[in-house]
Amino acid sequence: MNNIVLCGFMGCGKSTVGKNIARKSGRKFLDMDSYIEQKAGMTVSEIFEKYGEEKFRDMEHDACVELAELEGLVIASGGGAFTFKRNVEAFKGKDKIVFLDVPLGIIKNRLKNDTTRPLLQRPDRDRVMKDLYNNRYPIYHAAADIVIKGQNTPLKTAFAIID
Ligand code: S3P
Repeated sequence: MNNIVLCGFMGCGKSTVGKNIARKSGRKFLDMDSYIEQKAGMTVSEIFEKYGEEKFRDMEHDACVELAELEGLVIASGGGAFTFKRNVEAFKGKDKIVFLDVPLGIIKNRLKNDTTRPLLQRPDRDRVMKDLYNNRYPIYHAAADIVIKGQNTPLKTAFAIID
């Protein structure tokens, strides 16, 4: 059974929707950031702080290559993973890549009190978010096999993806 790999911006609901798909489709759920954290023995924030973003992206790429070798998973990728061609290539053709398309306004609201995402811990976070979102939006689209509007309930979105 191939994997279903969810991509999209931070806060678009990849983990929540992914857990629902797993429950309804008999696949096992796996969160890519948690996988990286377990391997590294530290949180994503600690990896960024201690080694910098570039090192995190290398670890993320290793995770993509390793997870693409597995079967029957629903994978919630990190928001940056599918902005790198090498990571898209790890899954493309073998697994189904699904872009959860959620408007920036909703995402901003969901993440307004978030302290866990290192890219957003800065005073100009609104501008950073807008720029990242606009830059990444066409890249997610190009990477995906399927695009799903994700502002519905996680369960409805999960059923739409399974369908
Ligand atoms: C990132 C998104 C995060 C995490 C890291 C970098 C990004 O994952 O991988 O903080 O570049 O958008 P979530 O999308 O699960 O928040």
